[in-house]
Amino acid sequence: MFQKIVLPELLSERGYQLTVYRGDLEHQGAPGNKWHKLKYNLAEAKAKGAKAIASFGGPFSNHVHALGNICAAKKMQAVAVIRGELQPNLTPTLVDFVNQGGMLWPSSRYDYRQGMASSVKAEIDHYIEGCYWIPEGGANALGAQGCFDWSCTIYNAGGAEFSHWVMSAGTGTTCAGFLANDLIEKLTVIPAIKGGKGLREDILFHAHNVNADLSIDKNDSRLLIDDRYHFGGYARMTVELKDFLTVFSILNPDVEFDPVYTAKVLFGVINEMTLGRWPLEKTLLIHTGGLQGRRGYPFLN
Ligand SMILES: Cc1ncc(COP(=O)(O)O)c(C=O)c1O
Repeated sequence: MFQKIVLPELLSERGYQLTVYRGDLEHQGAPGNKWHKLKYNLAEAKAKGAKAIASFGGPFSNHVHALGNICAAKKMQAVAVIRGELQPNLTPTLVDFVNQGGMLWPSSRYDYRQGMASSVKAEIDHYIEGCYWIPEGGANALGAQGCFDWSCTIYNAGGAEFSHWVMSAGTGTTCAGFLANDLIEKLTVIPAIKGGKGLREDILFHAHNVNADLSIDKNDSRLLIDDRYHFGGYARMTVELKDFLTVFSILNPDVEFDPVYTAKVLFGVINEMTLGRWPLEKTLLIHTGGLQGRRGYPFLN
């Protein structure tokens, strides 16, 4: 579904328009980019005869939440390595995960950073035979491929009208899939992470992997990264962002954004429009979901 956003009068008078593609309304258990990053991984896990799928995430991870829901629906065991010590009171995200039959595995922050090379992974492989692993955030080639498909679906459903698409990035897997679709003329990415070293290279690498017919140079020229809207870093929330969301929801009561990813994109676009730096182009903001993560910010709900 495409939803036209009500902009502050000052911006609409200047001719600005903004439409949101409501990925958050797709796929109940794995909304936004989540199902698209998981779908080929799930098929691969099944093809390999795996009974369990394991991955990594923080205590509010959208990816872990979606993995739990998808595995429950497909009758597979979900296993999640959680960053840092598990707290006695689980977050709502992890409560949902466990209620869906998911298995939690704590890890030290140091070991967690080793990801697929961590000792916790080796430990789980020892106990659970034939476990299929997905890197943190669903960041692999199959994840990017699924997001490429998603971009094609959006394009064919009405996205073709928009010359400028804008979206969030964590690992960059989702936008790599979108960049691999050369029908999208221009893609602006607003990272949720501060100083995302190597993000551009990662996006270009994954996009080229998905669609080797497109040259890295061509992709490079269609990709803009605006890294000024991380608000201090991953999952950081400021009063400015909170106030912005309050005002925005008065104008647009029927759409919500999550503070970790999508709200920062929305803020970035509207701020750039206010400063007159955003081009007067038909802009499509991809809502990548993540609304379950709002439970980590009770003052928003
Ligand atoms: C809601 C939401 N939006 C955007 C992203 C960023 O996706 P990626 O890591 O593929 O860049 C994530 C993380 O997966 C997310 O949960």
